[in-house]
Amino acid sequence: MTQRNLVLLGPPGAGKGTQAQRLRDDFDLPYYSTGDILREAIASQSELGKQVKEIVDSGELVPDDLIGAVVEERLNSGEADDGFLLDGFPRTIGQAEMLEQALSKLGRELTAALLIDAPDEEVVRRLSGRRTCVKGGHVYHVDFDPPKREGVCDQDGSRLVQRDDDKPETVTKRLEVYHEQTEPLIQWYSERGLLRRFEGTRTPEEVHSHVRATLATLAFEDAT
Ligand code: AP5
Ligand code: MG
Repeated sequence: MTQRNLVLLGPPGAGKGTQAQRLRDDFDLPYYSTGDILREAIASQSELGKQVKEIVDSGELVPDDLIGAVVEERLNSGEADDGFLLDGFPRTIGQAEMLEQALSKLGRELTAALLIDAPDEEVVRRLSGRRTCVKGGHVYHVDFDPPKREGVCDQDGSRLVQRDDDKPETVTKRLEVYHEQTEPLIQWYSERGLLRRFEGTRTPEEVHSHVRATLATLAFEDAT
């Protein structure tokens, strides 16, 4: 069977979570969002949560070692043996190297890095109207992708809230961190022939159909 070992790259608010939600249904892949994992740890006040709360609230990145260990544990668990969809990891060159090594230990390699791109002003517009469900992390926008019933998740009926790090000053910080530390990954993956770029300013449905078509082609290339 063709493995789909995929990462989603892109600035905050570009639509990584929005697309992941759709791609998980298409390809039945285990999905790991490091942002969701960290927010759950913070909410449950676990040891990890206590360590990272201040960092996540400020819009900075948590240390590579810490988040790298969290991801490696998932990859080694057996549940991702046929493929995975990683969202929000890697976001530094150090993390990309960690991922490469973790996969290589398992005799595997990445299939593609899917870049969903969007300019800063669009990111700011999106994050100010984003709502996230408290149970499953499902994502909505009050204008661009509203739920059927205001304040209620279509998928699991739970309450929709605004994320703590969506305050305007934290969004500015997250964008700064993205440009400095994560954007260099675009070239890194491009040099390795793994980068696939998508225009995140299109509608969620358009972006989804482009990504899906690309993933179908990748599977075909692999089989020939
Ligand atoms: P994380 O949760 O990964 O946040 P992020 O990368 O900033 O990305 P977002 O989740 O904000 O945006 P998204 O691209 O998923 O957009 P979405 O689909 O929601 O990380 C949070 C924090 O955790 C980090 O700041 C860091 O502290 C820490 N962290 C996480 N991973 C880490 C790591 N690897 N290393 C170190 N630290 C780490 O969409 C946004 C909005 O736009 C929604 O309202 C949506 O409805 C709307 N929308 C989406 N697509 C469209 C569209 N096509 N048209 C119109 N509206 C759209
Ligand atoms: Mg997200």
